[in-house]
Amino acid sequence: MYLVNRNRRLRSSAALRELVQETKLSSADFLVPLFVVEGKKVKQEILSMPGYYRYSLDLITEEAKKLYALGIRGVLLFVKVNDEDKDNTGAAALDPNGLMQRSIRALKKAVPELVVCSDVALDPYSTYGHDGIVENGKILNDATVEVLAQTALSHAENGADIIAPSDMMDGRVLKIREALEQANYVDTAIMSYSAKYASSFYGPFRDALDSAPGFGDKKTYQMDVANRKEAIVEAQCDIEEGADIIMVKPGMAYLDIVRDLANELKAPIAVYQVSGEYAMLKAAAEKGWLDHDAVMMEQLIAFKRAGASLIVSYHATTALTLL
Ligand code: PBG
Repeated sequence: MYLVNRNRRLRSSAALRELVQETKLSSADFLVPLFVVEGKKVKQEILSMPGYYRYSLDLITEEAKKLYALGIRGVLLFVKVNDEDKDNTGAAALDPNGLMQRSIRALKKAVPELVVCSDVALDPYSTYGHDGIVENGKILNDATVEVLAQTALSHAENGADIIAPSDMMDGRVLKIREALEQANYVDTAIMSYSAKYASSFYGPFRDALDSAPGFGDKKTYQMDVANRKEAIVEAQCDIEEGADIIMVKPGMAYLDIVRDLANELKAPIAVYQVSGEYAMLKAAAEKGWLDHDAVMMEQLIAFKRAGASLIVSYHATTALTLL
């Protein structure tokens, strides 16, 4: 057969394939989520996230040192708040000595070069497990945004490099940006969860932080999983309000959204491969139904191919040992 184009030519050896490979993963692509709990020497495995742990502060700084040595350049902090510190207003989120504030300080002290991103949302602090203040069964937007802006400022005061609002209230990026500028935190970046869907993939995370909504669901603030154009509107708003990085969440089921944002907008895009995605792969691998590491790497490269600059993933350290 005479063929001008043989697309297999460039696949004929490993070296050739590497030479023409369009997308590459590196340690600098990842943000590692860290779950912090009160106490000392606490390392608790999260039941629905095998191989992933909550750590107390003393151990989290050790973890961060290891991550940095591995080449990880950033972490995304979440705290598990004790029940007695939860209320409907997120008061504990503003405590200058709260777990998040102490965690940021400790990490910046232990590994100053590590980029510390702090989650800003009320759900870990909420008796209702919602991302906002609840009134008559509704999640209040504007009152919540005020608390979020003050929380963000408090994180900046304690040294956070990137503020990561994960709540999906309207106008919160602008209020946070104003609060930071007014207090002269001009270099504190905002990574906004812009296209955050009302997804069922968050289950294991809510186990990790004991933050499942006590009533209803999150569909009045998180996006409808059926919508695509709305993601561009959300992300565009956030950029105009002062976001430096925009995020799509969850990951695998939303690669079309990642690509849309990459085509339409010029801000760096983060993708969050969420807890349910991690859990599914662990479960399938445990049963011997999938090759864990191969599927993991395939998913991670897919995020970059789709247009993500940063990948928030519970698999980061495992992936790095394979790179
Ligand atoms: C809440 C928050 C959630 C996640 C990150 N921040 C859960 C939710 O919206 O209920 C999910 C992360 C994951 O599943 O890995 N502000």
